[in-house]
Amino acid sequence: MTSMVKFFSIATFCGCVFLFSACVTREASPAAPSDDAELVQGQKVYNSKCASCHGSAGEGGVGLQLNEGAVLAAYPEFAAQVALVKEGRDAMPAFADSLSEEEIKAVTRYTREVLE
Ligand code: HEC
Repeated sequence: MTSMVKFFSIATFCGCVFLFSACVTREASPAAPSDDAELVQGQKVYNSKCASCHGSAGEGGVGLQLNEGAVLAAYPEFAAQVALVKEGRDAMPAFADSLSEEEIKAVTRYTREVLE
């Protein structure tokens, strides 16, 4: 019994150390202008929900490239991009249930205005 407890505390500890180092070593996404609260929120959402697939700078990975104008070229219409993020497409998850309308708008603005 005690050894089980020991095992789980060690496992939990290692998990935390791993997560922590993964967070610190990950490259930062481009900073949102601090006077635009919506873009600041968008950056937070991007880091926690999108960067793992689209890369911290939007350079792509599992997900398509978003930076260097790619997302603007694919989605000239803001509303169409919001719809894609809500509904998902193939390997792109749908976020309608896990993000609020405001969060989706904020992250969409972030990908269009800050990632470059
Ligand atoms: C699990 C990986 C994953 C995550 C997490 C993810 N995406 Fe994607 N995303 C993809 C994939 C894969 C595609 C390409 C879908 C396809 O093949 O049609 C994509 C496509 C897109 C596109 C369309 C790009 C284009 O040129 O058509 C946008 C915009 C986008 N994602 C935004 C986001 C945003 C914003 C988030 C965070 C809220 C996010 N993605 C999170 C994997 C992901």
